[in-house]
Amino acid sequence: MPSAPGTAAWPVTLTTRRLALRPVAAADVPEIARLWTDAEVRRHLGGPVADSVVRIREKRCVGAPGAFAVARRRGRAVVGLVTVEHGARDGRTEVSYQLLPEHWGRGYGREAVAAAVSWAWGDAPSGAPGVVALTQQANLRSRRLLEALGATVDGTFVDWDEPQVLYAFPVPPAR
Ligand SMILES: CC(C)(COP(=O)(O)OP(=O)(O)OC[C@H]1O[C@@H](n2cnc3c(N)ncnc32)[C@H](O)[C@@H]1OP(=O)(O)O)[C@@H](O)C(=O)NCCC(=O)NCCS
Repeated sequence: MPSAPGTAAWPVTLTTRRLALRPVAAADVPEIARLWTDAEVRRHLGGPVADSVVRIREKRCVGAPGAFAVARRRGRAVVGLVTVEHGARDGRTEVSYQLLPEHWGRGYGREAVAAAVSWAWGDAPSGAPGVVALTQQANLRSRRLLEALGATVDGTFVDWDEPQVLYAFPVPPAR
């Protein structure tokens, strides 16, 4: 698959102490698709995605530049998905993240997002204005994660009838 703008180095694998972030493989699709249909994961993301949209996403996610399957290094189980999209928000790079609920509460989110943000800074086209993440105001787990990584509130607005908070990462976070 050709590289998208700003993902010149793709395919890429990032490793952290406990995790590997790597391109989505066909074998990952059942676990990744669960992220789009699980009511708990989708609680602050607009609810479960329609079946027809899931089918399209299942095809598009395999090998897609900037879409990282997050897997445990030990045992290799897929625990979630982190996406890095250059130029997505006011020219800034947007990082999004979702973990399967059985893997919440172990610090995997922070570990994976920190690695993705560091990569996003390094991979962004020169002169790119920064790296951001968007979350619902009510999504306290997500906000704690972002604030633990040093992200600060850059703006608030209402979208899809829900208050949203845009966070900016002022510097690449420590890993
Ligand atoms: C938001 C989300 C990614 C958080 O995942 P997570 O792995 O539970 O998040 P964290 O890495 O912050 O870890 C959570 C807790 O585990 C704790 N923890 C446990 N073991 C840990 C360890 N070994 N290392 C670090 N932290 C650890 C952390 O301290 C943290 O506690 P706190 O929230 O009370 O401060 C997850 O809830 C999710 O996928 N939600 C649905 C999708 C979503 O809403 N995404 C956000 C919008 S894009």
